[in-house]
Amino acid sequence: MSDFWSWFIIIIVVINLGGCAWLLWSNRKMSAEEAKKETTGHVFDGIEERNQPLPRWWLWLFWLTLAFTLIYLALYPGLGAYDGILGWSSEKQLEKRVEMMEKRAQPIFAEFAKEPVKELTQYPEAMEVGGRLFANNCATCHGSDGRGARGYPNLTDNAWLYGGSPQAIKTTLNNGRQGNMPAMGSALGGKEGVRDMAVYVQSLSNPQIAEDPAKAKAIERAKPKFATCAACHGQDGTGNQAMGAPDLTDDSWLYGSDLKTIQDTLMNGRSGKMPSFGNRLSEEQIHVLAAYVYNLSQSGN
Ligand code: HEC
Ligand code: HEC
Repeated sequence: MSDFWSWFIIIIVVINLGGCAWLLWSNRKMSAEEAKKETTGHVFDGIEERNQPLPRWWLWLFWLTLAFTLIYLALYPGLGAYDGILGWSSEKQLEKRVEMMEKRAQPIFAEFAKEPVKELTQYPEAMEVGGRLFANNCATCHGSDGRGARGYPNLTDNAWLYGGSPQAIKTTLNNGRQGNMPAMGSALGGKEGVRDMAVYVQSLSNPQIAEDPAKAKAIERAKPKFATCAACHGQDGTGNQAMGAPDLTDDSWLYGSDLKTIQDTLMNGRSGKMPSFGNRLSEEQIHVLAAYVYNLSQSGN
């Protein structure tokens, strides 16, 4: 809040409180002349309004609320940007709550941490906790069911960029991953070469397309050039998990299997980024998440 708005609010609050106090003070008793009148002179439907001073207890109640307001405003935030003597804030309260919850959760996580990842998948409570962590931290990219989306790998299948062992999954979560598929447009000799290679890539997972004579020619032209890809994707195209280079012979695609998408991939390269969670989640949380992800991939899809 800027100083201006802070003072703006402080001044309005003070004027209001002062106004209330003045009103109470000035009405605390009637002038002798006023008190002599039996009625106020208001008449409605034959009913006359009598003229009485405000009852004392009633006035005191108002003074009490005023006093309460002043004490409250001294202790808690309310006067513009002033924090109050107690320094209370909703943020701090939230922090305290989170701390308390974490403390309460600690023994549970400690219990989970004792079990190796594979065994942990047998504990329904651990999978439930893992599911919640996944929903909060991972679902935005990998989908609430873990099936991923274009550019975000499906975690429920057995195709892995970096490996599906508990250890590999933990490394992925702790350090993040950076995919690096270089742009190969010029290495492949421009558009024609890229198109040929895209057809060759398709033939790796779907050899039948070679029955089309035009495609068979393209495959023949591209095949020798696959040597430039082999360093990462392997001679046979089955990929290399040390580099996160996907298996090109399976049915699982990170970006897509249509000709246009593959040509895009080859022409411009790809660089998918998995953020690191080592500094955002505790070791125990990552342990439980790793078990959850491992379990997803074992559910047999
Ligand atoms: C900002 C988006 C984003 C978030 C959030 C995210 N991921 Fe990822 N994740 C990715 C991308 C992109 C990749 C693929 C990286 C690449 O292309 O090399 C990936 C890769 C992975 C892999 C490796 C898959 C394989 O085939 O080897 C795992 C496992 C994984 N993520 C799990 C998680 C978990 C668990 C979380 C939550 C803690 C999470 N991710 C959060 C984007 C995300
Ligand atoms: C330096 C290593 C490297 C080289 C060389 C390389 N790739 Fe890749 N390739 C990768 C990586 C890593 C990815 C995953 C990119 C990501 O995670 O965003 C990838 C992704 C791809 C994809 C996308 C697969 C999918 O599932 O959508 C295709 C297709 C592909 N590469 C084909 C090729 C071809 C063909 C060549 C040779 C002309 C080649 N790559 C050369 C590392 C490489």
